[in-house]
Amino acid sequence: NVQTIRIPVAVHYPSAGAVTESVKTCLRALAQNQINILNADYNATNADIVNFTENDASFYPGISVGNLGVQFELATENHPAGTGLTNGQVAVTFGTDFLSGADSDPTWAGYMNMVVRNEGSSILGYSPLGGSPASGHTVVINRFAFGSGSGCAGFVPAAPFNLGRTLTHELGHFFNLDHTFNNGTCSTNTNCNTQGDRVCDTPEVASESYECPEVGTVGSCSFEQFALTMNYMDYVDDACMYMFTLGQENRMRAYYNAIVSQFST
Ligand code: ARG
Ligand code: ZN
Ligand code: CA
Repeated sequence: NVQTIRIPVAVHYPSAGAVTESVKTCLRALAQNQINILNADYNATNADIVNFTENDASFYPGISVGNLGVQFELATENHPAGTGLTNGQVAVTFGTDFLSGADSDPTWAGYMNMVVRNEGSSILGYSPLGGSPASGHTVVINRFAFGSGSGCAGFVPAAPFNLGRTLTHELGHFFNLDHTFNNGTCSTNTNCNTQGDRVCDTPEVASESYECPEVGTVGSCSFEQFALTMNYMDYVDDACMYMFTLGQENRMRAYYNAIVSQFST
């Protein structure tokens, strides 16, 4: 009897004036498309998880797939009051360009705020490490890395970051996950709980991987292990990241349990 844990989401697009009604309809669907991707990735029901469970396992003995088991939902209720959301309508806003650039500018307290912005070509997105819903912390996504498919005018997902995985990655940060290569030293770290990415079942690596490394070809700090390049917390292309580990799940859940009461109900 598994209880579904819901996280109320608000998606904020810029440029109210320039957005026609038909584009707004498209952008609401794009927001739902991105949320569907998050729900797959955060429940390990993504179609490509079989890459790991069926093919990669021999390269990664002892590493299990993790999933936080949460359900992201576009919010439909103005609770607590004051968001501006009309009860019964989905929490997708246009023209509320809240942010000056900081990753922690407050928006709607009690919601998981996803702010879609024009961030130029070199930034995909960013998030605080250990976000605070009570403070209205936001996760920022470049308009070319939000959702998948053909997108909408001005918001077309661009390869190779066109499968919605940037948000999977950023929400990992929000739930207190570091990059798999965080503070990797390959020499001086002795405690996997407190050093590196502070997750013990992710092999320590000193640097990030890009594009799409062939599985089992990138070494880690331990000569017996390979880098977990297909992890959502590395820097590979969307098509080549498809799993969290059980250790990451546990770290996220500990953080989630500490902030869950901050979410609006
Ligand atoms: N570089 C960004 C960050 O560190 C996001 C990387 C996301 N990668 C991707 N394949 N979508 O937060
Ligand atoms: Zn990151
Ligand atoms: Ca680790």
